[in-house]
Amino acid sequence: MAANADIGFSTRQVHAGSATAHASPRATPIYLTAGFTFDSLDASAEHFGTGTGFGYTRTGNPTIQAVEERLACLEGGDQAVLVSSGQAAVTVALLALAGAGDHVVVSEHIYEGTRGLLLDNLARLGIETTFVPTGDLAAWRDAITPRTRALFAETLSNARNDVLDIAAVSAIGRERGIPLVVDSTFTTPYLLRPLEHGAAVVVHSASKFLAGQGAVLGGVIVDDGRFDAAASGHLFPHLVQTDRLGGASFAERHGARARGAYIRESAAPRFGPSPSPLNAFLIGQGIETLSLRVERQSQNALAVARWLEQRPEVERVDHVGLESHPDFDLGRRYLTRGTGSVFTVTLRGGLEAARHVVQSVELITHMTHLGDVRSLVLHPQSTSHSARTVEERRRAGVSPGTIRLSIGIEDIDDLLADLEQALVGVPVVERETVVL
Ligand SMILES: Cc1ncc(COP(=O)(O)O)c(C=O)c1O
Repeated sequence: MAANADIGFSTRQVHAGSATAHASPRATPIYLTAGFTFDSLDASAEHFGTGTGFGYTRTGNPTIQAVEERLACLEGGDQAVLVSSGQAAVTVALLALAGAGDHVVVSEHIYEGTRGLLLDNLARLGIETTFVPTGDLAAWRDAITPRTRALFAETLSNARNDVLDIAAVSAIGRERGIPLVVDSTFTTPYLLRPLEHGAAVVVHSASKFLAGQGAVLGGVIVDDGRFDAAASGHLFPHLVQTDRLGGASFAERHGARARGAYIRESAAPRFGPSPSPLNAFLIGQGIETLSLRVERQSQNALAVARWLEQRPEVERVDHVGLESHPDFDLGRRYLTRGTGSVFTVTLRGGLEAARHVVQSVELITHMTHLGDVRSLVLHPQSTSHSARTVEERRRAGVSPGTIRLSIGIEDIDDLLADLEQALVGVPVVERETVVL
């Protein structure tokens, strides 16, 4: 609209200037807009009827779509749905599968936010959880009931670095038509692609390694596009039955892509945790250097773990790349490019030793986050695992003297020097002093 003295100031302030210049940017443009214009009534009707094109950012946005396509491609999945946080990704994925009266089987060794979601929030909605030890295949099988709608676990867990045997657990679910949902936040598609091993759905906190810079939150759900209505339709009537108005079911409209389509068209936009296009852009930028960062972080973390394992102040290092780790062989099978950057170290001096280290590091940042380009440290007993009983913490490998490290891309000598100075004054005692 041209500036025109006959048109009022308030009108001109919202209409003057073209927002649709045609250019060919190499970087993904940020479509920071709530919605998109329709060319005609038929075009708007077509969009509402079939979902094609863009109408409103909660149901689709080109910047968000570019990141979704990139993540689906990296995971070897059929389609990805970006949401506003990792917590939202887990919530949407589980609510797309289970409803009131249903049941899920979950590894006991998972992120505390997910555990709280299951124990407090989904339980209140009538979804029941049975927790099982990650590596106990008989327990996974025994826990399944006729109401079970999903198996859920993390690829590499915090704090003890347990490795999920994805092929074995997904096979147990498949026998009964039940999908395995895997949180692969700690491994990223660079280190591990769970769909290639039989998982049906992958979720990530994109706030971590995918974004990498610690500036934004995001989450993603990637579906494998292998929904089998004959084997699983009886478990998921919302995918195979006609819709509320008697129209075709998701399975009729999308075939093997029905579960992914339901997440995209129904669960994510209705529950509503839409990502900002700006955050999507930043996550997309982060992903462009994912392999470089994760490779370096894995090398750094293993070097730090090996160094710590030799220290007299240290009782135990739970890093799956160390020969001493119980899942070392499983890790070699699944993690051929590196073992990630998050692990725990337990100090012989107990709580006071842990306090001393987290308060003495100078380069390493004391904060609750992981997967960042910077190295971070946290004391799980008093933070991430404080809502667990002493026995539950023991089973998760968390003692008073345990600290969690998330190693970044810094120069390894600087990281070791920082830890060396932080360990000065830490008592070297025979066994951990248990202060609860
Ligand atoms: C394994 C795992 N899954 C999910 C989440 C939740 O992600 P967000 O913080 O992006 O909501 C986290 C957060 O720490 C996590 O570590």
